[in-house]
Amino acid sequence: QPRADLRGKHFAITAGPTRESLDPVRYLTNHSSGKMGFALAAAARRAGAEVTLIAGPVNLPTPAGVKRVDVVDAREMQEAAERAADLCDVFIAAAAVADFRPERIAQEKIKKSDGSDRDTLALVKNPDIVAGIAARNERRPFTVGFAAETEKVLEHAAGKLSRKKLDMIIANDVSEADSGFNSERNRVTVLDPSGRTELPQSLKTALAEQLIGMIAAQAFSQ
Ligand code: PMT
Repeated sequence: QPRADLRGKHFAITAGPTRESLDPVRYLTNHSSGKMGFALAAAARRAGAEVTLIAGPVNLPTPAGVKRVDVVDAREMQEAAERAADLCDVFIAAAAVADFRPERIAQEKIKKSDGSDRDTLALVKNPDIVAGIAARNERRPFTVGFAAETEKVLEHAAGKLSRKKLDMIIANDVSEADSGFNSERNRVTVLDPSGRTELPQSLKTALAEQLIGMIAAQAFSQ
């Protein structure tokens, strides 16, 4: 597959985890490293696109020529994503956004409750960033999500594709060894309303090239 020519196109990509504070010293998060999203940003840029990369707290260098916006929690990520989506042709949600956040952020460090070995944490739902963008009536980019699953991977991914009204979803089994979260490699199945394509396990950098080609073919086909 020759590399797509994406000059003049604008991609916005989310990457990494979000971090949801509990108090000044603690937070809830997940194992996303940002590698998948950063690889996609680098591949889109190499193909000539203008790229905005919205990154949660990760430890990765910014790919050459990419505009990076750093965020911490899901609501900040949503704000940055909505702003970038106004200007983009393709929106790709590779971030592992926390579905819930603590209902309150304590001003002071939370103390151990005296005399009890149990405690509970009240959580509230975070906004669904990719679903919000896919639901737009105006300025709606071609919208691609990921599905991180540990069982019934394709079934759950197909559910997210239709429920979130996405144009494409990239399913990965995050329970597999050497794949998914924080690995250099990944193995995915691409689903769109017309069918599915299984891609063999490969380096995220190589996979990203392939995925950008497939996304471009769908997004910019006449
Ligand atoms: O970062 P790496 O270490 O390289 O790992 C890559 C990855 C496993 C994180 C990546 O390939 C991946 O699967 N990203 C999506 C992770 C995820 O949270 O999936 P999900 O099935 O929970 O969410 C489905 C989709 O909705 C995703 O596109 C997600 O970005 C989006 N979402 C979810 C919740 C929310 N509040 N807002 C969202 O936009």
